Amino acid sequence: MLEQFKKIKSSALSAIHLVKNLADLEVLENKLLGRKNGELTGLLKGLKDLSSEEKRIVGQAANDVKQAIESAWAEKKLELSRVEWVKSSEKESVDVTQSALPLSKCGHFHPITLVKNKLEDLFISMGFMVLDGPELESDYYNFTAVNIPANHPARDMQDTFYIKKHPNWLLRTQTSSVQVRAMQKYEAPMRAIVPGRCFRNESTDARHEHTLYQIEGVVIDHGINFSNMKAVLEEVVKNLYGAETKLRLRPKYYPFVEPGVNGEITCVLCAGKGCRVCKQSGWLEIFGAGLIHPNVLKEGGIDSKKYQGFAFGFGLDRLVMLKYGIDEIRVLKSGEMKFLEQF
Ligand code: DAH
Repeated sequence: MLEQFKKIKSSALSAIHLVKNLADLEVLENKLLGRKNGELTGLLKGLKDLSSEEKRIVGQAANDVKQAIESAWAEKKLELSRVEWVKSSEKESVDVTQSALPLSKCGHFHPITLVKNKLEDLFISMGFMVLDGPELESDYYNFTAVNIPANHPARDMQDTFYIKKHPNWLLRTQTSSVQVRAMQKYEAPMRAIVPGRCFRNESTDARHEHTLYQIEGVVIDHGINFSNMKAVLEEVVKNLYGAETKLRLRPKYYPFVEPGVNGEITCVLCAGKGCRVCKQSGWLEIFGAGLIHPNVLKEGGIDSKKYQGFAFGFGLDRLVMLKYGIDEIRVLKSGEMKFLEQF
């Protein structure tokens, strides 16, 4: 039996040595080591018929043979894998004359992103930071911190989605929720805008959606006044809708500002003459703004005797609708290709 093992060893090692590719190596592996008909496996099976003394001697030799074959096999496999990998990578080539994908196959930005990017560029040019804030917000930052305490009637205007088992968590109704977060983090003086998604418990129609986008703005510095605010906002509306656009501010109550205003521009569809969209008034309401209420500055850790500020909030969906003449807010998030392909 010892003889047989020796013979198998030398024939196996020379066969392995001669193999030229991985496929042949696999065939050889089966022939030698295969579970059912492998030559070596068959011989090893015969060990069980030997006496225990013989088993000790022959078993040891069998083991050495098996190991020698297996390691020669593993080494050969590594060598052949390398060779085949090099061969296959040589076959790969790059055809530099092939034309690029047709441009119509590429995606493009959503109209909300287009307007958001344009406004971000403008505000950055005026020295503003662009900030982000959580959509899942605390009751505190969304309401209490911006001067809308629990049970305040202003909460009724902004019903939202609350989280079961977490009574203090909600989906933010306004990007004003980032005002106090920004003050606490960056302190005064500060200029920042916060574009972002907000949510309201609304029944939807052509002008209302449960998910909407806003851009909030906050400026805090020494001696900030209403004229500073109007100058910045005029720049924004002219940049968006053209230099001929006029802006007017009319008093409106917002809990986080005092005094508060409602910003209106000359209707971009009828140039102020009066039409269905502006309800024949010639004016369109596009933002809320005002001088930041001292209570809000205080929550943000800012001394309202030293610093003043203004804040504003645009409904981004509305800006987009006016810019592109869209009369149905729900198409914006519909994913409708016929609509999206127009931008
Ligand atoms: N957060 C307000 C809303 O969602 C919009 C707004 C109004 C923001 C006045 C302001 C502001 O910063 O001063 O209706």
